[in-house]
Amino acid sequence: MKMINTSEQILDVEKIRQDFPILQREINGKPLVYFDNAATSQTPKAVIDCIVDYYENKNANIHRGVHSLSQIATDAYENARETVRKHFNAKSANEIILTAGTTHSINLVANGYSHFLKSGDEILVSAMEHHSNIVPWQMLCNKTGATLKVIPMLNNGELDLQVFDDLLSERTKMVFVNHVSNALGTINPIEEIINKSHKVGAKVLVDGAQAAPHLKADVQALDVDFYTVSAHKICGPTGVGMLYGKEELLNELPPYQGGGEMIAEVSFEKTTYAGLPHKFEAGTPNISGGIAFGAALDYMNAIGFDKIADYEMQLLVYATKALEEIEGVRIYGAKPEKKTAVLSFNIEGIHPYDIGTLLDKMGVAVRTGHHCAQPIMSFYKIPGTVRASFSFYNTISEIDVFISALKKAKSMLS
Ligand code: ALA
Repeated sequence: MKMINTSEQILDVEKIRQDFPILQREINGKPLVYFDNAATSQTPKAVIDCIVDYYENKNANIHRGVHSLSQIATDAYENARETVRKHFNAKSANEIILTAGTTHSINLVANGYSHFLKSGDEILVSAMEHHSNIVPWQMLCNKTGATLKVIPMLNNGELDLQVFDDLLSERTKMVFVNHVSNALGTINPIEEIINKSHKVGAKVLVDGAQAAPHLKADVQALDVDFYTVSAHKICGPTGVGMLYGKEELLNELPPYQGGGEMIAEVSFEKTTYAGLPHKFEAGTPNISGGIAFGAALDYMNAIGFDKIADYEMQLLVYATKALEEIEGVRIYGAKPEKKTAVLSFNIEGIHPYDIGTLLDKMGVAVRTGHHCAQPIMSFYKIPGTVRASFSFYNTISEIDVFISALKKAKSMLS
């Protein structure tokens, strides 16, 4: 990300904050300072209204009824799929599977490849993955006899690409890496990883859950094989997300779940499956969630991802400087220009959980612990970190509140 002068006014944040009803509330008698955006983002009124409108005006099952209401709901759902397709620049809507979120998306791919991998095959997983991009691949290795190898990380919070080069071979069938680390915010060099992996014939799945709130990924330009996203990180509702997959690869994969909607014809002798994307969408989906996913992308695109990235960089640079001035603070991960707006840190001699608990009493919400990325914590030999993660609706004055609350917590706990 590029560095920005903190005095530039990039967004009308006070106006944007009016779009988020929850930002007006108090927690423990103090104005809420919400810095847990990497866990889940807050929801603008446009998205909330979209969900209410669905239940008030459009609620019906999709792809099923000849009746008008079902058609209205189906159109709204498929329009949302088209919004998602456009946003990520997929070639075809057939390549956009609407799932329950990133974890579901990854498990869907892992299940598919469990039919193809065998003993002697290798898969590479980066050391800085969320558990959702580790455990499904361990399960796949247990089923198939394939071997899981780890692309190690360096002390500066980046991946060791030299070792990655050494690990790649004709045995490598798949490579898994996040676009952005949830625990550290590191932006990984996925273009390079994808290019090198393709040279040995390996497929690449990129977990884009933590990148999507901050930058716009173009799946065709990246030439990525699979890309996953959760709507709730990008101002959408929980329980819905996307699996992007190249059409030819999705066509090869067997369905993940069987049921209604994913079939062409069913008899007791034989079932044939529906085409893409429905082959992977068994059962009644999260219809209102899918539609609201589209509304969330519309909302963020109206603000503009370039502006969001520039503004968040201002917040990150300001907060990093203020944090570094507190004695005993250690920040984990890359420098601001190599990451998104995440600050993962500890204060010497104090457990992150204690800091998080005291910050909460002062109205400041951060995440503490291993952030579902225990291998990163083992690498740094720590139980966890305090993670403050910023969004485009946060402000410099909220960072000031956070820093003074942190100083207070430190003096109470030292
Ligand atoms: N994956 C989410 C996080 O990083 C929950 O907090």
